[in-house]
Amino acid sequence: MARLTINGRSVEVNVSPNTPLLWAIREQVGLTGTKYGCGIAQCGACTVLIDGAAVRSCGALVSEIIGKQITTIEGLATNGVLTKIQQAWIDHDVPQCGYCQSGMIMAVAALLKDNPQPSDADIDDAITNICRCGTFQQVRTAIHAAANA
Ligand code: FES
Ligand code: FES
Repeated sequence: MARLTINGRSVEVNVSPNTPLLWAIREQVGLTGTKYGCGIAQCGACTVLIDGAAVRSCGALVSEIIGKQITTIEGLATNGVLTKIQQAWIDHDVPQCGYCQSGMIMAVAALLKDNPQPSDADIDDAITNICRCGTFQQVRTAIHAAANA
């Protein structure tokens, strides 16, 4: 058993301390917006925020996260009001299949918090998430739109 704080809510998860955070979020808490892609911290589909930093949750153990603030894609909007990132994603039709996009958006949330006006080079450095549909150009456009919103 472990107690985690996810999207401002304290939740108990019945997993061993060595369980990857991704599975606690998906299987125990039922927040399935966080996706499983590679399982080896390479693709970014499972990205969440831990104390505001982008973390690939398949590579983080539950025992390492206790006492920290976890934010998933479900917790990004406030009272149903989308963030400027989410709105830019809609305005610029970023997703194709959509599978990678929640992780992409969480990585962008961390980037814009630290760097509100990123250059293309900053984006390329920070957003290393993989999109098999190749939405990288739309992602970049939407990041700039969100930065200027
Ligand atoms: S599933 Fe975690 S980085 Fe790919
Ligand atoms: S939108 Fe399909 S994998 Fe990125």
